[in-house]
Parts: sequence; structure tokens; C-alpha cells
Amino acid sequence: MQSDLFSSDERAGKNSAGPDAADWKVRAEWLRTELNRHSHAYYVLDNPTIPDAEYDKLFRELVDLEQAHPELASADSPTRRVGGQPLPEFAPVRHAVLMLSIRTETDTTSGGAIAFDARVRRELGLDADAPPVEYAAELKFDGLAINLRYENGILVQAATRGDGATGEDVTQNIRTIRQIPLRLTNCSAPVLEVRGEVYIRRDDFERMNERQREKGEKTFVNPRNAAAGAVRQLDPAVAAQRPLSFFAYGLGDVQGWRIPDTHSGTLDALEKIGVPVNAERRVVQGADGLVEFHAHVAAIRDALPFDIDGVVYKVNSFALQRRLGFLSREPRWAVAHKYPAQEQMTIVRDIDVQVGRTGKLTPVAKLEPVFVGGVTVTNATLHNEDETRRKDVRVGDTVIVRRAGDVIPEVVAVVLEKRPADAGQPFDMFRHLQGKCPVCGSHIHREEGEADWRCTGGLVCGAQRRQAIAHFAGRRMMDIEGLGDRYIDSLVEFGYVNALADLYRLTVADLLAMKRRAEERDGVIPETVQKGKIATKWAENLIDGIEASKRPTLARLLFALGIRHIGESTAKTLADWLGQLELIRRAPAPLLRLLPDIGGAVAESIADFFAEPKNQKALDELLRAGVVPTDEHAPSAKLRNLLQPQELLGALAIPKLTETRAAQLAAKGVSLAALANADRTAIDAYGLPSEIGTALAGWLDAPANREQLRALQEMQADLLKLMPEQAGSEGVLAGKTLVLTGTLPTLTRDQATEKIEAAGGKVAGSVSRKTSYVVAGEEAGSKLAKAQELGVPIIDEAGLLKLLEEK
Ligand code: IVH
Repeated sequence: MQSDLFSSDERAGKNSAGPDAADWKVRAEWLRTELNRHSHAYYVLDNPTIPDAEYDKLFRELVDLEQAHPELASADSPTRRVGGQPLPEFAPVRHAVLMLSIRTETDTTSGGAIAFDARVRRELGLDADAPPVEYAAELKFDGLAINLRYENGILVQAATRGDGATGEDVTQNIRTIRQIPLRLTNCSAPVLEVRGEVYIRRDDFERMNERQREKGEKTFVNPRNAAAGAVRQLDPAVAAQRPLSFFAYGLGDVQGWRIPDTHSGTLDALEKIGVPVNAERRVVQGADGLVEFHAHVAAIRDALPFDIDGVVYKVNSFALQRRLGFLSREPRWAVAHKYPAQEQMTIVRDIDVQVGRTGKLTPVAKLEPVFVGGVTVTNATLHNEDETRRKDVRVGDTVIVRRAGDVIPEVVAVVLEKRPADAGQPFDMFRHLQGKCPVCGSHIHREEGEADWRCTGGLVCGAQRRQAIAHFAGRRMMDIEGLGDRYIDSLVEFGYVNALADLYRLTVADLLAMKRRAEERDGVIPETVQKGKIATKWAENLIDGIEASKRPTLARLLFALGIRHIGESTAKTLADWLGQLELIRRAPAPLLRLLPDIGGAVAESIADFFAEPKNQKALDELLRAGVVPTDEHAPSAKLRNLLQPQELLGALAIPKLTETRAAQLAAKGVSLAALANADRTAIDAYGLPSEIGTALAGWLDAPANREQLRALQEMQADLLKLMPEQAGSEGVLAGKTLVLTGTLPTLTRDQATEKIEAAGGKVAGSVSRKTSYVVAGEEAGSKLAKAQELGVPIIDEAGLLKLLEEK
């Protein structure tokens, strides 16, 4: 049985209960106020206060009351206005044929279909033994109703429903929907109005919200809201970016087009002239056919690529439709039959944080169990910290939960008016987790400009283990032959491998036992038993593969560690320049940032990975297990240029300390060590402009910054010690800085740079007294003039090539 929160007034609270239905005048007034308030919150504030199903229920109650007591009818009743007044910005469109709505059957069991068929038979005066009525059964799309007017086969106007009589001209926006034909195929009828629903597919909707989240912007509550917003978007360029789709379900005004005799025939005819019509439609006989269709659609509902609001049954014959007619603006020949709602209200009991396979931390609301979209939901994703704060979800809050299709249930909004006095604090990921990953205890980190917090314990975190091992074993990493996902899963599941180093302790016996347990788990007869002998070859091969992986290049080993942002080429750069794992694993971020193609975020990510002691320990264990990089070497002499004090000072990103100022400090002989110990008097003695001195002093107030200076200074000293003695031994241009200007006759700028760097030189962007050479080509400009002024030697391409050839 469905546990619909709203079927009981007591559980739904006084807001949806209201005054006693016996006093219908007061009740109707209350319903109007409530409905107006909710629809204002929904359409204007985009901040729903109740689930749609609950709104529909109150709306239906008011319609019924007004029908039973016509004297209640008032011009301002929400029942007079479906979908909102035309906006002043859109031109009003008077519909040639009213756009009506259909009655909703809220009984979500088969009873709904049976009741409709019984009503139709009664209205048609059919005897019990008369043959079954033929129906067209189709989906009820969850979007926005649109009237498309084609004249002589050309789309001339598109309008929303508005109040049914007058809608809004949204032609511009609708034209951006690629599925809607701007010209009909083989149809030049003077007037053909096609009616249907504009909607957004679920995958498009998820992508759209993902983009919003990445931009740190507000997400859309559901596909229908997003579709309605897009259609009524005043800027057609913005509307064009919204992924809208369309299905036709009927006709409006028609002149000069032969209308088929049945509804199903009409949809077939529309399809033939190029109008999108959904394939999930059937012609069925009697109540049994309707019940079967309802059940069929319930079964495929989650697999549909878009949300539906239920199914629609229509008497198929237009002649019978005319006989049945209308009852207060609703056709007697059609009904919408619903399914359990995809949105419900419930209470947040707690907020947990889940760790994903890549270390991403996702806040999850633990809910009072609630029946949504056909299943009982106890968890709903809150996506990330920003979104949780934007929606301001707190423990104790009443929230609207949505579950549609295979999409993970999510909290779409908080019902603020139900927030208890003792509700929790606004969500704060760091405080909530006290800075530690809930699975492995490693420190958590959120990069600047990123929406997600992450666990930094890539090598040790249980949540990331399978992914980490699979990456480690990959072909371009440690290249462990034979270690596929299936074995990794079993090795982890049965506890043979908890850390990377465990791989190197595996024995043939372990692998055979692992396989046996996996086969037992899957209930398959072990191959080994089938053949009457124990197959061990695969296990021996795998052990050989693991053994062979113990001698990787340094770059492969670095790539294999799965450090965020470290791909193959960054790993190569690190290995080339620093040469040794011992240096790389303790390199401070500012030093890494100086290496080619390593930006701030990448440098931070590497330093952050190695700042986690658990990762360091896991790496030590790997080395102890016998993994040795084969190609370690002394740090590259190319580093010498980068280790100059002005470069290092510049890389520290000290506020206000520009490159020029850093150079100025360095020229004064201020070393990293001196700076690490400098007090205000010492800083003042550097002779910097006072605001820069103050900024520097402020930066040095943070002990972590002084620490970083010391680490950088130690690293600098060690690297200089380890580097080859003779700077020149690495290349003829070692220690030289060149500036390129103008167009060279044969070399591109990149090629020249490459040659200079390969010879140990550095290419700078501007000329100074320190510049060794300016290489000038055609149309050299101000740099050439500057070189002449400073007396820097000027050479041409031939001169450069000659320099490069020198021994
Ligand atoms: S028929 C006179 N068929 O549901 C009958 N409507 O309240 C006109 N809808 O505004 C509607 N799918 O936007 C019809 N297959 C379908 C539908 C459908 C969705 C929407 C439509 C209309 C509302 C009916």
C-alpha cells in the first residue's frame, strides 16, 4: 500500500488540513488563499512550498466545491487561471479554440481506469452487454502545453495556454526547438493548429543542473519547471540553450485539412506530416484495455527518458467525443490517470557524507522513510556543500524529495515554514567532518573554484581502493598484466588486498583461494573441479606480471599513484626535472609551480597528496615491498635558472609582491632563509614601498607561510647540491636568458624556444639588463629598442643557430 504522506491530514500538518470541509464557504476561501500562496511561491519565487501532487489535490477539491456550489464562483479564483497570467512582455494570443484541461483521476490503482470507463458508458447510455468502448491511451507528458499554428504548412505562431482563452506568444522561443518542424511535410492546409507538450528529457535536465552547479548557480527544481522557465524566457538566445523537446497530443483550430475520424488516426496523420508524436500509444478496448495500459506504463515508467505525470485515456471516436461533450470546461471523453507522485515531503533526520570512488565527498540527507515514485526512499543526495547551503537544508527540516526514473533521489527544496525552532546549523562540510574523511580519516580538501570537497587519502581510502588499484595496475601505469577489474574486485572484497603494497605480497595460493571464494559467491561450478585438476597457470602468470611491474620508470610510478590532476605528461615533467622520488615527495607547491606546464592547482594537488602522512606511509610500503623506479637521476641542470631567489620569491604568490618587486628583493641579497626569519625591522630595511612591506609582514604572520619558506629554502639547497657541478655540461645556453622578438626567417617562436631550452637556456618575455641575448627577426619592435638602449647583445636567427652549434 502506498504511504502517501498527504492522504492523512494529521501527518501533513495543519497547512494542508485547513478548516472543516463541512463549512464549504470558509473552506473554499481557505483553499483559494492557500493555492494562490503556493502558486506564487512556485512560479514567481521558484521556491515550492508543497509537492505538486498535494497542490493538485487542493486544486481539485476547489474545482469540485465550485461546481457543487456555483454561487461560490469568483473571478479571482485560481481555478480560472491555469498556468499563470500572460506576462506583459509577451504579446497576448487569443486562442481560436479554447485550450482546455482534463480531469484527473487521483486513484492511482486500476480503479481509476475502471471508474472512467463506467462514467463514459453511463453518459453514452450503454447497456452492460453493449460492446466495449474503444479508447486511445497515451502518456501524460510533464511539461508545458503549447499551441502551434501552421498556415499553409508554415509555423506562424506558438502560444502557451495561459488561462485557456488567451495565452502568450512565445513563437521566438519555440522556434529554437529543433524537433518542432518549421514547415510541415506534404501539408499546405490553410490552418492547422497542433497542440502538444514542451518538455525536457531527464538526461538533458540532469546535465543542465550539473552545469548550474558547476557555475555555482541555482538549480532547477524539476524538468517541468525548467521547461516552463525556458519557454517563457524573455531572451530567445537563452531559451535556445535550454534542451527542450516536444510531443503532439491533439488539434486546435483546423481549416482545410481533413481530420480523421478518430484520435489515434489524427496522431498517425500528424506523425506523417513530420510532427513528433510519442510511440508509446495504443488503441485499446474497454476498461480491461485501459487497466492493462496503465500497468504497462507503470512498468516502463522508470526506463522512459522523460518524466510523465500519468497516462491519458481518450474516447477514440470523434463522433462519440461530440456526443459526450464537456462538463465545466473539461471534456467528459478524456481523463488523466496518475501514478504515485515523484515528489513527496518528509523530514531530514541527519546529514551524512558519502565518499565516492574518486574521493569526492557528497552530502546525503538521511530521511524519514517516504514513498516516492514507486519506491521507499531513505536517502537523498544534496550534491555538494554549496548546493546544500543554497537550499539551506538543515537537520530537522521538512523537505520536498524527488525521485524520477533511475535518477538518484534528491532534495529539491526546504519547506521553510515548517522549520522547527531547534533545526540544525547551516551545513558546513569541514566542520561537519572535522576536516577528516569519514572513511579513512585523511584530511579533506576543496580546491579553489571547485564545487566538491575531496578526501586526499587516494592510496589508503577504502572508498577509493578499487579505483586506486585499477588505476595503479593500468597499462600506461605499472602495467600489471592480467590484473583486471574482476580480480581486483574479488581481491578487495575478500580482503587479500587492502593497500597497493599488498599486491606485492600475494602468492599463487592466495590467488587460487580468492578465485574459489569468488566462484562460491557466484554459485558457479569451479573450472578446476570441472576438469578434475587444479588450473594454476593463470595465477602463476599473474604473480609474474606483478613481479615484473616492480621496475617502473619514475614517471610511470608517479602516474600510477593516482594523484589528482597528474596525468602522464605532468608525471614525465616531474621525473625529468626533479629526477628522484625522494625529492618529488617533499617538494613544496611553489617549487612545483615553477616547472613547465604545472599550474597552481596542479602544484597544490601534488603537494597536498604528499602532505597526507597516510599517503607517504603507503608509498614507503610500496618501496619496502620492492618497487624501485629504474631511471632516477640527478635533478636537471635546467632547474638552476628556476632556483634563483627572484624566481622562488615570485612563485610564493605573496600578496602585492610582483615579479619586479621579487627581483628587487633578490637583488638586495634577501635569501629565503633570511625572509623566513625576518621581523618587521628587517622587512622595513628592505626598502620596499610601505604597503608592500605591510603586505609581506602580514603574509609572514602566518606560521605556515614561514614554514613553507623554510621548506623551499631547504629544497633549494638540496637541489643545488645534487645537481651536476658544471652548469654548462647540460647545454651551451645553460644559465643564459634569451628574448625573442619579431618574425624569424625559418623558425617559429615555439621551435626557437624549444631549441633554446634544449640547450639549457631560458626564454623570457621582456628585456632587462640580465638578458643575455635578444634574438631579433623581421618587424622587431620595442624589445629591440630596449636591447639597444641597455646594450644587450642582439643576434639574428643565423646567430642563434651558430650559438647552438658551439661546443
Ligand atoms: S489532452 C481537451 N493529452 O495535461 C484535452 N493533455 O490537463 C486537452 N498533457 O494542459 C489535453 N500529456 O498540457 C492531453 N497526452 C496528453 C497530454 C496532455 C500532457 C497536459 C496538457 C494539458 C494537461 C491536461
